[in-house]
Amino acid sequence: MSGERGRVLLAVCGGIAAYKACEVLRGLQKAGCEVRVTMTEDATRFVGPATFAALSGAPVATSLFEYPGSAIPHIELAEWANAAVVVPATANVLAKLACGIADDCLTTTLLACACPVLVAPGMNVHMWQNPATQANVGTLRARGVCLVGPDSGRLACGDVGEGKLATVDEIVGAALALLSPRDLVGRRVLVNAGPTHEAIDPVRYIANRSTGKMGYAIADAAARRGAEVTLVSGPTALATPAGVRRIDVESAAQMHDAMLAAFEDADVAICSAAVADYTPAAPADHKLKKSREHLDAIQLTETADILADLCAAKGSRIVVGFAAETDDLIAYAREKLARKGADLIVANDVSRPESTFGADTNRVALVSAEGVEQLETMPLADVANAILDWIARRA
Ligand code: CTP
Repeated sequence: MSGERGRVLLAVCGGIAAYKACEVLRGLQKAGCEVRVTMTEDATRFVGPATFAALSGAPVATSLFEYPGSAIPHIELAEWANAAVVVPATANVLAKLACGIADDCLTTTLLACACPVLVAPGMNVHMWQNPATQANVGTLRARGVCLVGPDSGRLACGDVGEGKLATVDEIVGAALALLSPRDLVGRRVLVNAGPTHEAIDPVRYIANRSTGKMGYAIADAAARRGAEVTLVSGPTALATPAGVRRIDVESAAQMHDAMLAAFEDADVAICSAAVADYTPAAPADHKLKKSREHLDAIQLTETADILADLCAAKGSRIVVGFAAETDDLIAYAREKLARKGADLIVANDVSRPESTFGADTNRVALVSAEGVEQLETMPLADVANAILDWIARRA
């Protein structure tokens, strides 16, 4: 278990959704977290500790008095954790946390935790809506405990309503947010992403292979690190990252206007969009019938260079561009750095499968006036954070 993303204490309580905690554990590990588990006695009746021990690769703390290798497991685990996640948070455990009751290993460990705590409630709708539970949740929130869910839907008891455990992705995402450094609080980050669509007529357009994943990962990571993020997005199929203000555009011209307007209120701009370099000079306002004549009449004109225009207006602000190349990566990136006047060019070789359009990984070099930093192939979220680290060191 590498744990490069952080150490998470998973606190599993006795609700039917306890089995989902196994998937949460896996999701956290996949994201690069090391996970250890504490369970209530009731939780062990739903899922055996052996399952969590095998998945986490560490003993599960179910008792204050029997934990291999430690005489004081609650303190050791509390000090070890960078974040604690309670899944499913039952009405009983929420009540104990609100009152500071520590009558078993799980609640004692949570009381000893100084790290951020996330609770993911899962229970019957009436238990959730009970004023006692609501008051307890209010108390916990006021103390800075984070909450994810519950969702609405069909509950295990057959009732329909609020109380359903949040999805595994939501819980993992919220837990990762607790682990991110909050080093961009107060910074306003502007990002563009995706392709642009350049209209030939109302039906047809010229586009490129960009999916927008890289830019969305940057917007997501910046928001997690506390920045105020505006994402100007070309057409994509991606969901808006939590806490990000998204402005949808289609064409290079629209993206240009949206970016220059938004840059007035930004400290940093990151241009990851694959903006079309050329656009039809005179798009038809009606659908063109297929004909050689229409084809020959399509004239292309160069689009405005958003990155160059932002650089011209940037003053002391930081502007980052991308260079997608298939050969002579570093030489072209250096040339772009100089020609556009950017602070950093993120160069990637799109001829390689791990860094091509649509991939979930990227292998980039950070090219700046200070030199070239070649990064390993890594998930897009890590590439995003490496770019933000570069910015955070200078902003
Ligand atoms: N870019 C932009 N506006 C454009 C075109 C590109 O802001 N109209 C930005 C992209 O978002 C990216 C960088 O410029 O950050 C890429 O540089 P670009 O000149 O587009 O690269 P190529 O099109 O590959 O150019 P060349 O063929 O000259 O290498």
